[in-house]
Amino acid sequence: MSRLSEIANQLVAPGKGILAADESTGTIKKRFDSISLESTETNRRDYREMLFGATEAMTGYISGVILFDETIRQSAADGTPFVEMLAATNCLPGIKVDTGAKPMPGYIDETVTEGLDGLRDRLAEYARIGAAFAKWRGVIGIGENKPTRASVHANAHALARYAALCQEAGIVPIVEPEVLADGKPGNHTIETCEKVTTDTLGEVFEQLRMAGVALDGMILKPNMVIPGVNGPKVSIQEVAERTVRTLKATVPSIVPGIAFLSGGQTSEQASANLSAMHNIGKLPWALTFSYGRALQAEALQAWGGKAENVEAGRRAFIHRARMNSLASLGQWAP
Ligand code: 13P
Repeated sequence: MSRLSEIANQLVAPGKGILAADESTGTIKKRFDSISLESTETNRRDYREMLFGATEAMTGYISGVILFDETIRQSAADGTPFVEMLAATNCLPGIKVDTGAKPMPGYIDETVTEGLDGLRDRLAEYARIGAAFAKWRGVIGIGENKPTRASVHANAHALARYAALCQEAGIVPIVEPEVLADGKPGNHTIETCEKVTTDTLGEVFEQLRMAGVALDGMILKPNMVIPGVNGPKVSIQEVAERTVRTLKATVPSIVPGIAFLSGGQTSEQASANLSAMHNIGKLPWALTFSYGRALQAEALQAWGGKAENVEAGRRAFIHRARMNSLASLGQWAP
């Protein structure tokens, strides 16, 4: 097995998933606003240290952590670099390398993700710091006249260029094409999500092949097939069946693993839906989580930015990590 394959398989080892803690400076400010905490470098450090110091979660349920540029260079309060702190719990450090979804010229309300210029050099530096894997998120919105083929193509092409550069640098790419559930207006049906997700993943794998990406040395991070947040509600079973069907139709079985984003779901929904997917038959790839909000939301509230609440925050994080570990084995129950 190639080194890239080994790392990809380690990321999706049975009962484990990925913690997405790569909120950009702008996004983490929004999260901190919800607990009325100022977004200073020290507060961001303390928050991440609260999470990474939850030993039970990190050793038992988390295989890797996606970090932001600031965080991968940061150290805990006692001076231990975060990268070393993660290594001590056998968690692989990952790095978000895109520079954000920017308005796509000539297209209304659509974006294309940037960050390819200079990426080869940045990846070489991240590899030296210790990054084992990376992440790039393309964003596909659903609305009256969107997504256009042009935006799906542009985002898929950028994802493939990024993935090829990662593998050249010995870094496993997490390929994240997110079909938004919580975009505007967000009232689409699950059928629409299924169609757009099928088209998007089809284009992504076509571009990955064209770019020469080794499909056994990457992880796919897709959305689940769900209705828009303001769309008609459906059962857990329907989400599970449509998601697995969509993935089977588009994702080659040589891909070691699929790790979902939680985008717009409650923490409990994200666990319930993942678990249900494991109970509708044998799957050709590992199917697990790479959640941001669905792993962190309760922990953030319990911590509230206060040193005396670090243990309460850790307990909340450990609970969600354990629930998602169970879900990744099809063993979660309400
Ligand atoms: P959510 O699980 O909060 O959607 O975040 C995952 C992620 O990494 C988005 O890029």
